[in-house]
Amino acid sequence: MTNPLKGKVALITGASRGIGRAIAHRLAEDGVHIAVNYLQNEAAAKKTVEELQAKGVKAEAFQANVGDLDTHNPLLENVLKTFGTLDILIHNAALGAFKPVHRLKMNQWDLSMDINAKAFLALTQKALPIMEAKKEGIIIALSSLGAHHFIPNYGAIGISKAAIETTVRYLGVELMPKGIRVNAVSGGLVDTDALKSFPFFDAFKEEVLKRTPAGRIGKPEDMARVVAFLCSPESSWIVGQTLIADGGLSLI
Ligand SMILES: NC(=O)c1ccc[n+]([C@@H]2O[C@H](COP(=O)([O-])OP(=O)(O)OC[C@H]3O[C@@H](n4cnc5c(N)ncnc54)[C@H](OP(=O)(O)O)[C@@H]3O)[C@@H](O)[C@H]2O)c1
Repeated sequence: MTNPLKGKVALITGASRGIGRAIAHRLAEDGVHIAVNYLQNEAAAKKTVEELQAKGVKAEAFQANVGDLDTHNPLLENVLKTFGTLDILIHNAALGAFKPVHRLKMNQWDLSMDINAKAFLALTQKALPIMEAKKEGIIIALSSLGAHHFIPNYGAIGISKAAIETTVRYLGVELMPKGIRVNAVSGGLVDTDALKSFPFFDAFKEEVLKRTPAGRIGKPEDMARVVAFLCSPESSWIVGQTLIADGGLSLI
């Protein structure tokens, strides 16, 4: 049977490394053509593109700081020029200062709100006319447990992820009648480069390991499988939700 995602086109922000890269690989296995957005790591983006092309799909890298809204028009235009359409938008890129919330500088607040939350809504708005014309589309954002739980030094990102999850609920209701399905995937600790920025990471990881019922920390592929599920018609009844994939961590 043909995979229903075969031939679709996905734009994944922050797909050069980590979870974004794993999502790109997972969707490529379903036959999805991939626009790989990245910020500065051109070598990693190129490597990801070559790996995806080796899987038999079209792939190309697009540099853009998604926190700068002026990059969105050229990004979308270049994706359309290369692939001809857009069926799936996945906002995965994220950045933020690691420090206590009461010491956050306002430019640090703006940084994570702009890249994580505002970019999600702005990119969605840019993708909307394309998806509305087709009367179908899939939009997914990445979130994390810090949206609802206290994680030391994680407030800047956690607050922006809470904004993302609420945005997903509103967009879910507003866009489903147009055939566009919006959801989010949230996770606990996932083994990527991002963890290197965590202050006191080793102690934190030990603590997370002790508390995670599944007995390990997450892998990018754990998240990618859930994103692929939300892209597929198998999840068609799931709208405006944030699915948590964390090996049970958030239940403890
Ligand atoms: N790791 C975790 O524990 C964890 C847990 C739950 C949820 N998440 C979420 O999953 C997503 C991916 O996390 P990750 O750990 O895979 O991150 P990561 O390893 O740090 O990779 C970040 C990716 O985003 C890109 N990026 C960063 N800022 C960007 C910007 N302004 N514009 C465009 N691209 C940008 C990077 O590009 P360059 O390669 O060019 O730098 C890279 O491709 C994030 O939304 C994160 O909050 C992560």
